[in-house]
This record gives sequence, C-alpha cells and structure tokens, in this order.
Amino acid sequence: MQLVRERNKQKKNVEEKLNAVDLVTETDKEVEKRLISALSEKYPDHKFIGEESTADGIKCELTSDPTWIIDPIDGTMNFVHGYPNFCISIGYVVDKIPVMGVIYCPLQDWLFTARKGCGAFHNGVPIHVSHTTELSQALINIETSVRSSDPNKMKVFFENLNTLAPIVHGIRTAGSAVITMSFVAMGGSDAYFEFAVHAWDMAAGCVLVTEAGGVVIDPAGGKFDLMSGRILCASSQDLAQELVKNLKQYYGPRDDA
Ligand code: IPD
Repeated sequence: MQLVRERNKQKKNVEEKLNAVDLVTETDKEVEKRLISALSEKYPDHKFIGEESTADGIKCELTSDPTWIIDPIDGTMNFVHGYPNFCISIGYVVDKIPVMGVIYCPLQDWLFTARKGCGAFHNGVPIHVSHTTELSQALINIETSVRSSDPNKMKVFFENLNTLAPIVHGIRTAGSAVITMSFVAMGGSDAYFEFAVHAWDMAAGCVLVTEAGGVVIDPAGGKFDLMSGRILCASSQDLAQELVKNLKQYYGPRDDA
C-alpha cells in the first residue's frame, strides 16, 4: 500500500495505548478505517474485528458469522522507528475458523496469501515450512514485547530464553508476529511462540502456516484458540511438541474477556 510506504518516510504522530511500548500512529487508524470501509461496502453482512477499533472500545467478540480480523500495521513499534519489518494483515474467519489470510509488507513488496485447502504463497509462488523436527537443529523466533503491568510475564520470558538459548541453533526476533509466522511458513524460521499476542496479530498468519504444511497449537500443547492471546507454530508436530515440553507457560488476558 502506497499510503504506508509514503508515511514511513514522514514524521509519525505517535500515541501510547496500554503502556509506553503499546503504540499507535495516525496511519494505523487510517489504514484500518479504509479497509473496513472498503470491505463492508462489498460485504455488508460481514463483521469486523480490528486492532484500533478494539482499542477505541468496540467489543472484541468472535461469533460464527463471517468476520474480517484486521491489523492495519503489525509491527507498529518497527514502523514508528523506521525499522522495515511491518505489514498489513487481514484474516478472514468463518464459524470461528480462520480460512483466509493476506499479509502485505510494503517496503519489501512481499505479499503472502493463503486460503484453507488451497496452499500458501509468497508473491504468487507456493511456500512450504522447513523439514526441521528437532529443537537442537531449529532456528526459532520469539517476540520481546514483554513490558507489562504483570511482572510474571517478563519472568517467564527470561526463563524460556535461558532454557532455549543453549539448546537451539539460534533465536531471532522480527518485531511483528505475523511477519514471524510468514517466515515459519516459508521455511526461514522453524518455530515461534508468544503468550500475550492478539487475534489480529495471528488470524492471517495461522492460515498461512497451516497451508504451508506447518502446525499451529496452543503453547501448552492443546488446540489453538484465536482469542486466547497464545500461539505456538512450528514446521512439524515433533518440533512443536519438543518446544511445548521446554516451555514455562504464561496466561495473559483473552481478547474476548
Ligand atoms: C505486536 C507485534 C509484536 C508482538 C505483539 C503484537 P502490533 O502487534 O506483532 O511483534 O510481539 O504481541 O501485539 O501492536 O505491532 O500490531
């Protein structure tokens, strides 16, 4: 999207939401408004969940109705600093099941797309997860958004970092949950987990990862729940289970609480 590319070069108008590292810019708000307006014109009966609409107090409720779940800029902190990992993320959910995902990284001109049963693509070319099955051979991604009013969140983060750093090939952080999921889908990263993320950060990415042949589950090993704020995705079931065994768990608030 031209708008986001242009705005990246300009001075941003930044506001804090829940805390000093939970940021929003006028571009996040404008992109979300434009997307909801265009989609609701085409699909007047569909529902919407958007990061900025939720921040403005609109109830975040997932029903069985067709619902578009939008993150107008995933990686807002990156966008604010001009660090190039940010994207627009749109997931489409029916009967509470994510069925379509579109992710666009404006600076790289990367378009990731996936539809349930139809595969996952990067700029139109099919993508697949890696063949990694062992943690000792894995390059994994974590996210470092752990500043919170709950000190336990940071404690669990550092415990997991201490456990994993000595036993994996490497640890990376991208600064955008859905770009991270795109990396898992294209085989560049082998796994990713996070305990306090949101439905709009995961909806598009989880279709992409499963359609690329990967696994998306709850970090404690159970079924993935889009509104739980928790995700673990991996290139294989074996790798996912090995990661689960090594993780200390953290439970933050649900999006629909
Ligand atoms: C955040 C980013 C970040 C992740 C957070 C997300 P936002 O989304 O994806 O990498 O760690 O959990 O909330 O605020 O940039 O849309």
